[in-house]
Amino acid sequence: MKIGIDKIGFYTPHMFVDMNKLAVARDVEPEKFTIGIGQSQMAVAPVTQDSVTLAANAALEIIDDEDRDKIDFVIFGSESGIDHSKSGAVYVHRLLGLNPNARAVEVKQACYAATAGIQMAKGHVALNPESKVLVLGTDIARYGLNTSGESTQGAGAVAMVISANPRIMELEEHNVYLTNDIMDFWRPIYSDKAFVDGKFSNEQYILFFNKVWEIYKEKSGLELKDMEAICFHLPYTKMGLKALRTVLDEAPEDVRERLLENYQISTTYNRNVGNIYTGALYLSLLSLLENKELADGSRIGLFSYGSGAVGEFFTGILQPNYREYLNIAGHQNLFKSRKEVSVEEYETIFEETLPVDGSDIEFDISKDPATIVLSGTLDNKRQYVNKNR
Ligand code: HMG
Repeated sequence: MKIGIDKIGFYTPHMFVDMNKLAVARDVEPEKFTIGIGQSQMAVAPVTQDSVTLAANAALEIIDDEDRDKIDFVIFGSESGIDHSKSGAVYVHRLLGLNPNARAVEVKQACYAATAGIQMAKGHVALNPESKVLVLGTDIARYGLNTSGESTQGAGAVAMVISANPRIMELEEHNVYLTNDIMDFWRPIYSDKAFVDGKFSNEQYILFFNKVWEIYKEKSGLELKDMEAICFHLPYTKMGLKALRTVLDEAPEDVRERLLENYQISTTYNRNVGNIYTGALYLSLLSLLENKELADGSRIGLFSYGSGAVGEFFTGILQPNYREYLNIAGHQNLFKSRKEVSVEEYETIFEETLPVDGSDIEFDISKDPATIVLSGTLDNKRQYVNKNR
């Protein structure tokens, strides 16, 4: 039985800051951000968007009545969770009006969590072929104003329906995964911003890729020439390129060119959104699928990396007419309708956070065009609104 990605949706907040302008404000050469890091724009999340609303907005785009009935497992992958106890999945389940006979859980391992969700979903569908699983990768990347990580912030979510007979991509066998306890990036419970050892994190990302790729080749008997493209977890778009370059010598010239060209296409959306942690790899996949017509049956390699750290390499096969099941026009509109904010406005929005003393607050949700928003907090409970229900 084929199991894989049947639908894929995406949401990013309605505001962005231009990386050239951010560079000028931080007194660095703009090319450092646009070429050295490889980012053009960075999504800015208003206080009315959190990991729950971003995920729910991404899922809203793809869920129909059949999904509402058949989804019996919601997996919320995030490192921007809003509660130590209750999962974000339960809120999304309610906001989307899903079948009550469903499991709903949150999974965490930095940027790797959505990949864990997809593999759990695959196992669930193998045992229950009629089921569908909603997997969410949703995050707001925050390092802080004037930090070296600032240029790699971002916000957004990817939602995927995993099912039997998927219409977009079948997930193949031969996954290779690796865990090692390292401190390259972490966020202690008391902090709303990440701590990072930037250079070490870059090195570990590449090391993990090299290790899983070597084992993958042995296990599968496949090589670079068998991949139409490799999509990477993209904390910033230069990162995957650095990893890809370490293995390109293994391939003949035409394969090298193909992988490099497809790599650039796979960074299209990420370049204008920034790091969305758990969703970043799947945003890269979406960039590739929506910005190039690839042949049905093409094999796509996927490298997932979550600091701390866990890495995984796996592959998928594009299904016949997969492009008919994408929302290319919808995503183009989402980007077109975004509004640029100045660096000063971004700084103000960045500092606007929820009260941490338990006091109530009410936000003006008319400023946020998203369908699902956070309208405030009352009695220590986040208040969510689906404007369409
Ligand atoms: P930095 O110190 O600001 O920048 O840190 P840099 O000095 O390393 O420069 C960056 C690049 O710009 C370099 O290119 C420079 O040469 C180049 P490279 O040598 O690396 O190829 N550069 C220029 N290029 C053109 N024109 C110029 C120019 N000037 C310089 N004028 C860093 C950069 C990414 C380390 C920092 O932003 C950071 O710490 N970010 C957060 C951590 C991160 O993204 N790590 C990535 C791997 S870990 C990961 O992916 C997991 C993660 O997503 C978290 C999770 O799993 O949850 C982060």
